[in-house]
Amino acid sequence: MRTHFCGLVTEAELDSEVTLCGWVNRRRDHGGVIFVDLRDHEGLVQVVFDPDRAEMFARAEQVRSEYVLRVTGRVRRRPEGTTNPELRTGAVEILGTELEVLNAARTPPFPLDDDDVGEETRLRYRYVDLRRPVMQERMRLRAAVTRSLRRFLDEAGFLDIETPMLTKATPEGARDYLVPSRTHPGSFFALPQSPQLFKQLLMIGGMDRYYQITRCFRDEDLRADRQPEFTQLDIEMAFVEEQDVMALNERLIRSMFRDVLGVDLPDPFPRMGYAEAMTRFGSDKPDLRIPLEFTELTDVMREVDFKVFSGPANDPEGRVAALRLPGGGTLSRKEIDDYTKFVGRYGARGLAYIKVNSLAEGPDGLQSPILKFLPEAVVQAILERTEAADGDLIFFGADKATVVNESLGALRVRLGQDRGLVVEGWQPLWVVDFPMFEWDPKENRFYALHHPFTAPAVGDPEALRADPRSALSRAYDMVVNGTEVGGGSIRIHSPEMQRAAFDLLGISEAEAAKKFGFLLEALTLGAPPHGGIAFGLDRLVMLMAGAGSIRDVMAFPKTQSAACPLTDAPASVNDAQLRELGIRLRAQPGAT
Ligand code: AMO
Ligand code: AMP
Repeated sequence: MRTHFCGLVTEAELDSEVTLCGWVNRRRDHGGVIFVDLRDHEGLVQVVFDPDRAEMFARAEQVRSEYVLRVTGRVRRRPEGTTNPELRTGAVEILGTELEVLNAARTPPFPLDDDDVGEETRLRYRYVDLRRPVMQERMRLRAAVTRSLRRFLDEAGFLDIETPMLTKATPEGARDYLVPSRTHPGSFFALPQSPQLFKQLLMIGGMDRYYQITRCFRDEDLRADRQPEFTQLDIEMAFVEEQDVMALNERLIRSMFRDVLGVDLPDPFPRMGYAEAMTRFGSDKPDLRIPLEFTELTDVMREVDFKVFSGPANDPEGRVAALRLPGGGTLSRKEIDDYTKFVGRYGARGLAYIKVNSLAEGPDGLQSPILKFLPEAVVQAILERTEAADGDLIFFGADKATVVNESLGALRVRLGQDRGLVVEGWQPLWVVDFPMFEWDPKENRFYALHHPFTAPAVGDPEALRADPRSALSRAYDMVVNGTEVGGGSIRIHSPEMQRAAFDLLGISEAEAAKKFGFLLEALTLGAPPHGGIAFGLDRLVMLMAGAGSIRDVMAFPKTQSAACPLTDAPASVNDAQLRELGIRLRAQPGAT
């Protein structure tokens, strides 16, 4: 139907006849001449219709935005002064000789060049939204990313193997999406939260190196970087230790960044222990582009009278820490109040601060609501430890360590953004030496920090049972610019160790047999040592595209409430279907 793409017509085609297909980006009437900017996936070109071809001209007068056209014409140089250096096609235009309207279009639900359209509307009309150059660019970037990843892994001897979508619960810490079985009434498949167990079975099956770009389903609270269905690049390798997995995956990501963005990431990626990351940044995915760090003050605050600080300082689970903001003395009262509200969202009960006006003036040079509660020696220790300078502001967090870490950690990122402190560039990081378990005091039980199949650093089950609280795991996370883009581990391959881990997680032998019996059995039938990783593909592409949400790099994402405004999914089904599945609804939809 066409000889060229709209966005690629240049001076190389001068004087030749071209046929183009595309959408009307804009139509302008100019003193008897009609200009149409015709758009396709490659970009725009300007088409001119003269009135001397009356019939064609009349048709051109009818066309509106987003009409689909086929145009034939001659490429000519644009008149002097009308060239557009912003466009690849900006030196030329097409003098139209034939015009065919392939399809009319209603007025679009939003102008394509409007960047402020509500997301609900964009998702409702995603196919219109996808025509926007920025979305075209993102989809291409995504394809370039998967192409590069596949090429690397194919060349490295990995096999692309598919695993079931209709399966049994695979615990990754979220709720399952369930699918009722018609042939087994009362039974349900679960959609996979990840292919974790299958990729382990593939290693036991001797496949040696596996990868898959695959959908995962998790019914959890949604955020900018979380969707109910998302895509992982899932990888598993046999006969490896963590160094092997990390080295290969570093090379994979480095080569992909070079391919797609022309960016050289550091070699090797820096590594940081979980404990250090929490101490310095209050986060296990620190954004190293932000030059702000915590200062530990727990030990300094044990003896002070100020209960807000001494309480947490004497609580084994408590923490007192400071965050110094260089130049923060310029913050207004209102700004500090807003930050106090902000940390409140993370459970902080306040946000004490000291403004350092002039160190030379001693206590008179400081401004703070808490100064009166703190002995001079403590204030001195704060100033020294934080390396405070005139004009700085020091924030304080005092609470359970989890609250201090989350609230001050979030404040660190927020201040970095608000104050323009984020240093441009790419800061990848491996976070290692995670604790094996996390104790939940409310539930009185351990949770797996990664997943229950992660190997502990200690080699024998007895050692793990003896001191589970201080056990470290053989897990590793890849963090890029403060986003966890991937996580993995060396897996447990001994049945005894797997039983010990289940035990500590409060999974009884009967429950383990029911849920994971197939894995436990496989571990007794020749399981090689193995390990792997999974990357959140959407998150990687989001970062590389500079997008604010993974929704922006998915063709058809769900909304925050896990629905699809385009198809109106999820939707009710008719009684016959329910009956066939042996399901009766507890409440009728719409009934209250
Ligand atoms: P994990 O649960 O850490 O590990 O997931 C791996 C990576 O997937 C991405 N991710 C998500 N992306 C978008 N929306 C979500 N809801 C979402 N949840 C996770 C993150 C994360 O780092 N089976 C293990 C991997 C392994 O051990 O090999 C697993 O799934 O970027
Ligand atoms: P108060 O004595 O409650 O008025 O608090 C005095 C100062 O300490 C105020 O600036 C509060 O914002 C701050 N503050 C109170 N609780 C905490 C806390 N848990 N962590 C940090 N600062 C706090």
